[in-house]
Formats: sequence, structure tokens, C-alpha cells
Amino acid sequence: MTRHKTTPIRIETERLILRPLAPQDCEAHISMMLDPDVAATLSPNGKPQARHDLWRQFASYLGHWEIRGFGWFSVEEKATGAWVGRVGPWMPDGWPGIECGWSIARPFWGKGYAPEAAIGTIKWTFDQFPDLSRIISNILPENTNSQAVAKKIGEEKTGEVFEFWDFKLDIWAAEREAWRSRFG
Ligand SMILES: CC(C)(COP(=O)(O)OP(=O)(O)OC[C@H]1O[C@@H](n2cnc3c(N)ncnc32)[C@H](O)[C@@H]1OP(=O)(O)O)[C@@H](O)C(=O)NCCC(=O)NCCS
Repeated sequence: MTRHKTTPIRIETERLILRPLAPQDCEAHISMMLDPDVAATLSPNGKPQARHDLWRQFASYLGHWEIRGFGWFSVEEKATGAWVGRVGPWMPDGWPGIECGWSIARPFWGKGYAPEAAIGTIKWTFDQFPDLSRIISNILPENTNSQAVAKKIGEEKTGEVFEFWDFKLDIWAAEREAWRSRFG
């Protein structure tokens, strides 16, 4: 799926601003990913990846925007302007659907920022893709923090499993009509 519209994107929620990930976010993104608590559920071996690999990962995220016309949003705290993480629609080649993903830098955990940004993301994604019947999130069975986010934003575990790297990821999903009637 590709998005063709070229209007600037800025999503505002109660406490956050979401805008496309941009080159100036590279260092903040690498810092987040070097944190062992964040890497535990995101990197192939559960440990922080090398800086040079994280730089390449970040470059691939910018490339995703180029190819698809959508991708990760940088999430900024309105009150301070701080970069707090990345949340957004994501569908690299071979993915089982458009995913709403989330990662928040460790100092900002526990404020409900991931669910707030995810709700803004899902609204935007359903608006952009009128034929999209569901949005998914791929979550490790042991990632209880992420499962808590999925539940808060109205996703349910489907029973489907997506295998990627050595992970067996549970596919959580929200169906368009049911989600719209709950979140608008
Ligand atoms: C999953 C994640 C995005 C949640 O972000 P968040 O903004 O903290 O979300 P919430 O504030 O809604 O908290 C979600 C859950 O995280 C846990 N949590 C919150 N603050 C925490 C803290 N300071 N320490 C440990 N766990 C915490 C709680 O279980 C919470 O659920 P609850 O609100 O029902 O108690 C964040 O933990 C993260 O970035 N983790 C690493 C990357 C990752 O796993 N991404 C998802 C891949 S599928």
C-alpha cells in the first residue's frame, strides 16, 4: 500500500504532536534504541544493537517514508518540545498488514504516551486508507507493556502468529468499524 498525497502531516493529540520522522531525529532515535530496556523487546537478540546498525535502521525508516508515503511519526511532548519516541503506521516488505507500532524513550514510559499517539495514528491511517479493514500490531508474547497499550487502544489478540527473525509475534488487530465507533 502506498500513500500519494503530499500535504504536510501534523497530528495533534491532547499532549503530543506527531510528525513524520526526519533526519534531525537520528540521534534521539539511536539513544532510545541503545537503552537496554527498550532493546529488550525490539532487537534481534534482546540487547542493544551496534550504533552503526542503528544508524542504518534509522535510514531505512526514512526510506520507508520515501517508498510508501507513510511511516513512523516522531512523537513530541507539547509542553516541552521533547522528542519522546516513535509511533506510526509501518509496513515494510513482507509485513502481514499495516501495523501501528510504538516505542517510547525510557524516561517517558508510564505517562500513557504510546496509547495516546497510537490512537492519533490509527485515526490518521484509517482516514488515509478508506479500504483498510483492520490495523494490526505485532507483539511478542512476553511484552506485557506493549500488550497493555494494545488493550488500551481497542486491539485484540487474533490468534494469528507472524514469524520474523527468530521471533514468533502475536498479531493483535483492530477492525475499522468497531474501532471507529469507539474512538471516532
Ligand atoms: C510498550 C511501550 C511503548 C509503552 O509505552 P508507554 O507510553 O509507557 O505506555 P503506557 O504509559 O500506556 O504504559 C503501558 C504499560 O507499560 C508498563 N509501564 C509503564 N510505566 C512503566 C515503567 N516506568 N517501568 C516499567 N513498566 C512500565 C505498565 O505495564 C503499563 O501498563 P498499565 O498502564 O496498564 O499499568 C514502552 O514500554 C516501550 O517503548 N517499550 C520498549 C519498546 C517496545 O517494546 N515497543 C513495542 C514493540 S511491540
